[in-house]
Amino acid sequence: MSNEFVMSVKQLFVSFHTYEGVVKALDGVDMFLRRGDTMGVVGETGCGKSVTAKSILRLVEAPGRIESGQVLFYDLDQETGEVIEIDLLQLMDEEMLEIRGNKISIVFQDPATYPNPVFRIGDQIAEVIILHQDLSEDVLLMKIAALESTLTEETSGDDRANIEQKIMYYKGQLEDPPEPDTKSKKKAAMLRAIEMLKLVRMPAPDQVVNQYPHELSGGMRQRALIAMSLACNPSILICDEATTALDVTVQAQVLKLLNQLKKEIGTSIIVITHDMGVVAETCDWVNVMYAGTTVETCATGELFADPLHPYTAGLLTAVPKLHESKIRLPQIAGSVPNLIYPPPGCRFHPRCDYATGICKEKKPRLEEIGPGHWVACHHPLTS
Ligand SMILES: Nc1ncnc2c1ncn2[C@@H]1O[C@H](COP(=O)(O)OP(=O)(O)O)[C@@H](O)[C@H]1O
Ligand SMILES: [Mg+2]
Repeated sequence: MSNEFVMSVKQLFVSFHTYEGVVKALDGVDMFLRRGDTMGVVGETGCGKSVTAKSILRLVEAPGRIESGQVLFYDLDQETGEVIEIDLLQLMDEEMLEIRGNKISIVFQDPATYPNPVFRIGDQIAEVIILHQDLSEDVLLMKIAALESTLTEETSGDDRANIEQKIMYYKGQLEDPPEPDTKSKKKAAMLRAIEMLKLVRMPAPDQVVNQYPHELSGGMRQRALIAMSLACNPSILICDEATTALDVTVQAQVLKLLNQLKKEIGTSIIVITHDMGVVAETCDWVNVMYAGTTVETCATGELFADPLHPYTAGLLTAVPKLHESKIRLPQIAGSVPNLIYPPPGCRFHPRCDYATGICKEKKPRLEEIGPGHWVACHHPLTS
């Protein structure tokens, strides 16, 4: 398998089993994220962006339930560079903890309640670092134990050499363990925390580590949150409307920061937003969602130049002018459907000028109708 992609979500279905009925929130979401890319997930409020993010991390809470689908994470074996495909929806809870702490991080919208208001910024970043180290040690020990258990009398010479070499490698990784005594471990983590704050261009990082979240401005809190999320050196960072609450200038600074960080540390990023301006400014690739489905996905330039889904075209009618004002999605006639009783066929058909009989009956599948350009529509637009 190539290592081009770091994640792909396939036909994800999620429902909320409420007293009023079953809310069919996600109805077959598809998305793929290239390694090193920033992908925008865009659509009106209620279209399922946050539920998708939470599903990826298995954070959907009752009455929500992941009904079916796959969330494939393509991990890289640090030793061999080999790609390991993991379906996150099949992992045990403990294994998922390792993914959440180490491989995939999320930054949520509300910087007033995160980071935790009662702890100093430095302590919170240090906690992530320490947890990450402990987890990594546990994981290494587990890997060593697992490899040792495969060595038997019958193991052939080549296999034995191969396995022993791997064990040596993991033991080597363990050789430089963090200080066992908690105090110096904490001190080392604090120094790392300051480094992380420098990485996110936090002004006066030595001071900020000792401050509480309420002592920082919104933009600084958001930087602190990003530092926390990156402290575990994740493969994927998900920002769920992380800049929405910030004013336009600060928002632009944080987005610029994300782009710089992507280049410096090679993390792949998912930016969830309902703001096409943010997409234009930060994303390589876009995934447009409507009422719990992916309606279109392609490179950002392609989407703006040649939208194929009538819903996307509607989103783009008000061409965003960056930095001018907070750009909202333009109004599209009609409203988002009630997802307890979603429209049959294409969920967008009641609002679509191009809808015909088939749109009311048959759900369109996401298909690649131009090179690298995917759309789920019976009557895609032509340019
Ligand atoms: N706890 C819940 N109970 C019932 N429905 C929910 C719950 N959470 C989300 N939903 C439904 O899931 C859909 C998608 O929500 P969400 O992912 O938060 O939208 P977005 O982030 O795109 O604004 C919404 O229609 C909402 O009604
Ligand atoms: Mg949301």
